[in-house]
Amino acid sequence: MANQYDVLGKAPGLEELNKLSSKDVHLTIRGLNAGYGKMEILHNFDLTVSKAQSLCLIGPNGAGKSTILHSIYGFTNIFDGKIELEGNEITKLTPAQKLSKVGIAYILQDNSVFPDMTVEENLLMGGYIKDKQDEAYEEAERIFKKYERLRNRRNQPAKVLSGGERRLLEISRALVMKPSVLLVDEPSIGLEPKYISMVFEILEDLQKNEKKTIILVEQNAKKGLEFADIGYVLVSGQTAIAGKGDDLLKNPDVGRLFLGG
Ligand SMILES: Nc1ncnc2c1ncn2[C@@H]1O[C@H](COP(=O)(O)OP(=O)(O)OP(=O)(O)O)[C@@H](O)[C@H]1O
Ligand SMILES: [Mg+2]
Repeated sequence: MANQYDVLGKAPGLEELNKLSSKDVHLTIRGLNAGYGKMEILHNFDLTVSKAQSLCLIGPNGAGKSTILHSIYGFTNIFDGKIELEGNEITKLTPAQKLSKVGIAYILQDNSVFPDMTVEENLLMGGYIKDKQDEAYEEAERIFKKYERLRNRRNQPAKVLSGGERRLLEISRALVMKPSVLLVDEPSIGLEPKYISMVFEILEDLQKNEKKTIILVEQNAKKGLEFADIGYVLVSGQTAIAGKGDDLLKNPDVGRLFLGG
């Protein structure tokens, strides 16, 4: 059935994706068919991302953006294809193994903090899997040192936090496990503009200074593409366009369909 997204053309080839992420490849997806139950949502999907690179997925509602993050983390049924981290296959690992063994974190959002627990208790929840609890404590201390907003509220119940501080806590909780890959689904959703900038500054710091690889989904396509090194436009479970964030911002089709231009 024809629709407004047809103008975007068909999937870019692997060569094109690899050119965008040519050095120090960190995570790859090849020929992925995945979905929920028996329903296939992603069709022959490919992705390549380098170490300490940021990739933003944009596209219409229901395109399968969240399903990509779910598939990387192990929440979907994978019918075919391969996911590799630094050349090692991780396709069938469970979410717990992804987090504790290979260093992939999925950032929960939308009120995933426990309001009656303190900020510190919430933060330490992120390390519940860790065999070495000491390491989780150390990492929590480092996070408190770094983020004054959390430090000041350390022993208060999380319900006193502002929306932006809550999002910071949600991101920080994932950091307790010292992941190398962060999967972030719509970090700006539900936040006031001043907090949206704060969240993107935090992500930028994690990428630039802590060398995290970041794969994010963002409904706010402008913010997402301004932040990210590269972007994929997803339509109906397939990539329609892939490019540098700056180039996608200048692309007239992307502008018309996703940037309100
Ligand atoms: N847990 C689930 N069980 C069954 N179907 C699901 C589930 N989650 C998503 N879907 C379906 O998969 C398709 C893709 O959904 P997905 O959440 O990946 O889209 P999205 O691109 O993230 O959209 P949005 O911008 O609305 O968040 C949709 O048709 C949706 O109904
Ligand atoms: Mg989604």
